[in-house]
Amino acid sequence: MQKKLFIKTWGCQMNTYDSGRMADVVAPLGYRATEVAADADLVIFNTCHIREKATEKLFSELGRLRPHQKEKADRGERMMIAVAGCVAQAEGPEIQRRAPYVDMIFGPQSYHQLPEMIARVSRGAGLILNTEFPAEPKFDALPDERVRSDVSAFLSIQEGCDKFCTFCVVPYTRGAEFSRPVASIVSEAEKLVQGGAREITLLGQNVNAFHGEGADGKIWGLGRLFRRLAEIPGLHRMRYMTSHPRDMDGELIAAHRDVPQLMPFLHLPVQSGSDAVLEAMNRKHSSDDYRRIVEKLRAARPDIALSSDFIVGFPGESDRDFQDTLKLVRDTGFAQAYSFKYSLRPGTPAAAMPNQVNEAVKDARLQELQQLIREQQEIFNANAIGRKIAVLFDRTGRRANQVHGRTPHMQAVHISGGDDLIGREIMVKIDSIGLNSLTGHLAA
Ligand code: SAH
Ligand code: SF4
Ligand code: F3S
Repeated sequence: MQKKLFIKTWGCQMNTYDSGRMADVVAPLGYRATEVAADADLVIFNTCHIREKATEKLFSELGRLRPHQKEKADRGERMMIAVAGCVAQAEGPEIQRRAPYVDMIFGPQSYHQLPEMIARVSRGAGLILNTEFPAEPKFDALPDERVRSDVSAFLSIQEGCDKFCTFCVVPYTRGAEFSRPVASIVSEAEKLVQGGAREITLLGQNVNAFHGEGADGKIWGLGRLFRRLAEIPGLHRMRYMTSHPRDMDGELIAAHRDVPQLMPFLHLPVQSGSDAVLEAMNRKHSSDDYRRIVEKLRAARPDIALSSDFIVGFPGESDRDFQDTLKLVRDTGFAQAYSFKYSLRPGTPAAAMPNQVNEAVKDARLQELQQLIREQQEIFNANAIGRKIAVLFDRTGRRANQVHGRTPHMQAVHISGGDDLIGREIMVKIDSIGLNSLTGHLAA
């Protein structure tokens, strides 16, 4: 019997990956994806806890869904509601208290148990709260089959974080660092490619801290893993995120030099350009360490483009500190970057620090930083005009007869063309740049 499944996902790419895998886990039970939550048989909210607003978004979605759940019940049908992900992990009892009509609450480490949880709810077992960090790794229990395989696919190879940056909830919501064995990653990558993937992005909260068991029984780092994955025929492009500067080792940098499938684009968060702030954040690297890593990367792969994350208004951040961040951005030159106002997360060490920065100052700093990043992004994109660039087409565009693809540097590209281009990497001559994407035409 066919049932309708609705999943809404917030947060990082790891959550996107997890949502896809949840769909895979329940597919054998007859659940098929739907675009409307209102008449779904199973609704899963896969949540993010990284900044404050995330939790409130969850509760407003739940509130909107509640009447539909009731309507369905009046018709003698059932809508199960599940809250998954990092808010579920961190605030299970709070969700239970504020939204008692939720049927299942489970963290990122337990979603392989979904069939069992669904069965228990169907039997009327009452609310299920499942936020343990189970001993048996979930990856072994996930099905081999995929509901769908995108041209550009995600593959989680590492989870959790042992770094404990003082602002961040991830070590608490995702638990300790864990790396999958190489054989299981290679086999999943091969399946993705068989299913049509041409690009794979390896994911981890600390992806370059990867230390998985290799075929030879030895521990492999990420650089070695890329060399192995590069042997898979049909896999044209590889990427990875998110990296920590401390784990950018020589082997990984050498892979950027030697492995052509490894794309010349790296998201490498630095958070701040001030050494005092970096120290208070417990990042365990200085701004010059970051500059040196970028230098090495550029020596290894001269065309590499960089992206980063920044936090403004960390407790105690002075105007001088903020100027140091602007200087680091100017010195480095980013193709793009994300920036956030520091958001106080209860229970993290930074929440208890003195000299919290006031909102108005945070707002002003954020604006100034974003303006600078936008200028750099425009310069980077303008540089593409008139050039022929390899574009991997991954989906149809929003307009008729339009396809969407990406350059090696992650820039979005739209051109006129049909579905037959999807899955192919073709040279495109770039004509112009828009706000968020490049446009061009197939180069003869
Ligand atoms: N593991 C990655 C990042 C994970 S979170 C890393 O180490 O870089 C993604 C981004 O969210 C972070 O890079 C940081 O810039 C931002 N972030 C995390 N906690 C935050 C907080 N409390 N307030 C504001 N931004 C935060
Ligand atoms: Fe959070 Fe720091 Fe771990 Fe990244 S490295 S997930 S910012 S604690
Ligand atoms: Fe958010 Fe959890 Fe990812 S807090 S950023 S969904 S690891």
